[in-house]
Amino acid sequence: MPRRNNLQKSLAATLLCAGNLASAGLVYVSSYSQTVTTLNYTHGQNTGIQKLSPVAVSQSCSDNPSWLTLDSPDSILYCINEGLNTPNGALTAFRTSPGGTLQKLGQVSTANGPVSGVVFGNNRHGLALAHYGGSAFTTWDVSNPAKLKLLQTKTYKLTGTPARPDRQDAPHPHEAVLDPTGKFLLVPDLGMDLIHLYSFDPNTLALKDITPISVKPGSGPRHLAFVVKGSKTFAYLVTELGNTIIGYNVTYPNGQIKFTEIFNIPSHGQGPAEPSSYAAAEVVVSPDSNYLIVSSRAENSTIIPDFDNPSTTIPSDPLINFKIDATTGQLKLLQVVPAGGQFPRQFSINKEGNLLAVGLQDDGRVVFVDRCPQTGLLGDFVAYADIAGQITSAVFA
Ligand SMILES: *[C@@H]1O[C@H](CO)[C@@H](O)[C@H](O)[C@H]1NC(C)=O
Ligand SMILES: *[C@@H]1O[C@H](CO)[C@@H](O)[C@H](O)[C@H]1NC(C)=O
Ligand SMILES: *[C@@H]1O[C@H](CO)[C@@H](O)[C@H](O)[C@H]1NC(C)=O
Repeated sequence: MPRRNNLQKSLAATLLCAGNLASAGLVYVSSYSQTVTTLNYTHGQNTGIQKLSPVAVSQSCSDNPSWLTLDSPDSILYCINEGLNTPNGALTAFRTSPGGTLQKLGQVSTANGPVSGVVFGNNRHGLALAHYGGSAFTTWDVSNPAKLKLLQTKTYKLTGTPARPDRQDAPHPHEAVLDPTGKFLLVPDLGMDLIHLYSFDPNTLALKDITPISVKPGSGPRHLAFVVKGSKTFAYLVTELGNTIIGYNVTYPNGQIKFTEIFNIPSHGQGPAEPSSYAAAEVVVSPDSNYLIVSSRAENSTIIPDFDNPSTTIPSDPLINFKIDATTGQLKLLQVVPAGGQFPRQFSINKEGNLLAVGLQDDGRVVFVDRCPQTGLLGDFVAYADIAGQITSAVFA
């Protein structure tokens, strides 16, 4: 039996979780239709599926919000506008507030097509952006959010004939990631089958090039997550074209960073390769670093009740849930559950580890999935919100 039939089984599973904490808070949601929406959720037990209404909506990020980067200690939310129909993207800094409203502090035009950002440097005064559309990586001084200042632009060029010319027509940096030591920046590049690598001066933020990490041709590196287990560090790269998860042993010889590939498995775990029509997307590690969850798109692998009209059904893509072996870094498949609709481009986990917020790009919806922090198991949908446009990210405050 194909393992994807497990989906049906996990559907009805109500989560039994001894220590499941209650949690409540705000979630920021970006939509390509110009909005950043603030939701307010409360998560208890056995409350059914709540429908959430926005507590605030901002249209100040400009045309096509593609990603949100929260700097919690400074109460700043960076919104990245991909600018799908314009030559440039934009970066906006908002001041967050307990009431959920976002106050625009500053906005600048950027290189084309930014899709991801990460804060870095001393006191988080730097922001690094990956530009899918512009084949670039940029760094910004954000110490004054009202005066966002461009520092460096790295523009990439293809060096050879790509394995997948249809999607690898140009370099496509897809994410900006900071390593757990806070000393290295990584940029998975879907077009080049590389992870660009930099160290930087934590004060001036000046980048120093490091030899990039090569990935199997045609993989299409998309997103990367780190796991620290005692003295060990592992990294997990999700590839969008190959639909694989590549595991790395990460070491720091003489203050340098070194990646050693330890496995390359399909996005659903050990077994046959996944169809090339799939598009693996996000990878998230649980707050206790014991579990790793991957979203995959364009599978339509199961049907679930329609949130707005439960007597009918909608197709859903999956979330794939793994347990991480603390010693070897290997992944063991735990379960495959419905993501809550089509195209789960991005999702987040709250700090209590008992809730996921999943952005369904093709359904105009964010769904909240129950999770047991002790067992790592994902359970029922507990809340949702319908938000106009294609959902690109959902981030817990
Ligand atoms: C969020 O909901 C909680 C519980 O209903 C409420 O106490 C709180 O004021 C709400 N916050 C906002 C910003 O609406
Ligand atoms: C990973 O790195 C550690 C050093 O931290 C080393 O002892 C171990 O053998 C490596 N494991 C693999 C699978 O490469
Ligand atoms: C998934 O299902 C929807 C609705 O039936 C359809 O529009 C879409 O094309 C399907 N996608 C794939 C990749 O099969």
